[in-house]
Amino acid sequence: MSSPITKAVIPAAGLGTRFLPATKAMPKEMLPVVDKPAIQYVVEEAVAAGLHDVLMITGRNKNALENHFDRAVELEALLERKGDHNRLAKVNESNALADIHYVRQGDPRGLGHAILRAKMHVGAEPFAVLLGDDIIDARDVLLARMLEEQHKRQASIVALLEVDPSQIHMYGAAAIEATDDDDVVRITGLVEKPDAADAPSNLAVIGRYVLRPEVFDVLEHTAPGKGNEIQLTDALQEMAITPETSGGVYGVIFRGRRYDTGDRLDYIKAIVQLAVDREDLGSELRPWLRAFASNLD
Ligand code: G1P
Repeated sequence: MSSPITKAVIPAAGLGTRFLPATKAMPKEMLPVVDKPAIQYVVEEAVAAGLHDVLMITGRNKNALENHFDRAVELEALLERKGDHNRLAKVNESNALADIHYVRQGDPRGLGHAILRAKMHVGAEPFAVLLGDDIIDARDVLLARMLEEQHKRQASIVALLEVDPSQIHMYGAAAIEATDDDDVVRITGLVEKPDAADAPSNLAVIGRYVLRPEVFDVLEHTAPGKGNEIQLTDALQEMAITPETSGGVYGVIFRGRRYDTGDRLDYIKAIVQLAVDREDLGSELRPWLRAFASNLD
């Protein structure tokens, strides 16, 4: 039996151009979703699934990420002196969360290229990949289910979400075959960001993967694809059609709550959705939102 998966890889080297000028001097992963940087939700999700060893793939301009997951000694001392234990706890939440490592991507040559930078750290074990633009509601289970399926099938696993066909061009799209499990499908093909007319289905790959280490060998020879970038989707397509050497690819269909923080409109929606459910904000925000919405034309 294989040993349990402990490593999570979080690509965070993107330039965040969709959020300029906010991201001119600050990584997009640090944008607050309510009162927590987007990246902290993602690290918390990895840890909740038992992945305590986190490798972030970063780039230039990303120092704030390292600082966020480190001690802030002056701030801690100040809050200690004031006896503000509530805020002190908030400051300390992110320091002790996980064992976080960093490697830089250098050239931004695509998601597949970013994942390849994890090869030395990950070694010959299966590992998870979590993309920071997707936040999965902590009340819904996804990653744990994917880890379970990886263990059972010894394959690579992607997370799938049914989207409106008009949206599929923003995602990797999957061709699938049913399995005996209602929420698991075998992937027979993957296409990165197809036009709606060419999409094999409206099942979109969302930013959670549990990958076998063979993905590194495949990525090493994966040619640039869509957008002239080395695409993880293309490497997974190859693995899907070569199950004898790579273990094949399965999809876990997610039916829970997912928030997209990758573009401005979805980011605003994510904040509102998460804030209305918060104990400290929801009771005031909900009636305000109702009144606000009733005045919209
Ligand atoms: C990436 C992947 C894509 C996937 C998406 C999920 O695209 O390349 O296959 O569907 O993440 O969020 P990106 O959104 O980084 O352009």
